[in-house]
Amino acid sequence: MNADALLKEAGDKLAAARTPEEVEAVKVAYLGRKGAITEILKGLSSLPIDERKIAGQQANAARVALEADVEVRLRDINSAVLAGKLASEKIDTSPQLAFPFPLGSRHPIRQTMDEMVSIFRSLGFVVGDGPEIETDWYNFEALNIPANHPARDTQDTFYLEGYKQLLRTHTSPGQVHAMETRQPPLKIVIPGRVYRNEATDATHSAIFHQIEGLAVDTNITFADLKGTLTLFIHRLFGSSVKLRFRPSHFQFTEPSAEVDIQCTICGGKGCRVCKNSGWLEVLGSGMVHPNVFKAVKYDAEKYTGFAFGLGVERFVMFMYGIDDMRLLYENNLQFLKQF
Ligand code: PHE
Repeated sequence: MNADALLKEAGDKLAAARTPEEVEAVKVAYLGRKGAITEILKGLSSLPIDERKIAGQQANAARVALEADVEVRLRDINSAVLAGKLASEKIDTSPQLAFPFPLGSRHPIRQTMDEMVSIFRSLGFVVGDGPEIETDWYNFEALNIPANHPARDTQDTFYLEGYKQLLRTHTSPGQVHAMETRQPPLKIVIPGRVYRNEATDATHSAIFHQIEGLAVDTNITFADLKGTLTLFIHRLFGSSVKLRFRPSHFQFTEPSAEVDIQCTICGGKGCRVCKNSGWLEVLGSGMVHPNVFKAVKYDAEKYTGFAFGLGVERFVMFMYGIDDMRLLYENNLQFLKQF
């Protein structure tokens, strides 16, 4: 094929090209190091002198023309792409659109926390808070978890540089702050974010939410703990939901109990969510350990108290039948708008 024919063929291919990559492929096929027009130019020296002149002019003209065609085609494609983007990503800033304002909604985690806190407020608890960056003393030491105690291993702690500070692994340090700044009688809940160095999966997240509760007075008994938590669960899940207090261990409470509720998904028959046990573990609790009172300089002979801590995400999942915690963090508006 002579250069003119090659130029015509390349022109057809260019017209059919739809992307910059396709244009580039045409350019390489004709003008690249082994391109068809390049080969003609390379072969000129073997032609007789009179043919060489004509063929050389033709091939060079084809090269220049094709280079120009490639540029034009590229510009056309790019401006079509841009026009498409401008049309599809267009934001209408005209004032009419401002009304009605598109309203957001509260996140299900926040909604659930507010609902829980309002139940405790109705029982006479006040709301407190505490820092998310804590010292070893607040997160562990004051809660009767001394250095080198194996209980620390279970906490998967994120330490900050220098190991002097850490991200709180539970809201329990909020108890310590509350008791340091107030005197009994005291009834307080502390909602907040906590951090643990664990991999994210359907039931775990490195950042999650807890609500801590603490009641201290001269005559608080385990019956107060049971009554308060039973009432809380019944308000949240309905008074027909069964719950049980199961002996457990926490360094900062003695005795300690974990609370299970009848599985909200299967009603206790056994399913994937409750791992066929019929029960869901929802919170940790117990009577405040005397060493914790000692740490905050409360008189452990005079006062008793109960404390509890619950994971908000677990409640949200059980209340709404959500089987993957990650759905709560993906900020998918379609999902979030359902609550
Ligand atoms: N802080 C405990 C936890 O995160 C829960 C808890 C709080 C247990 C208060 C007892 C009393 O697992």
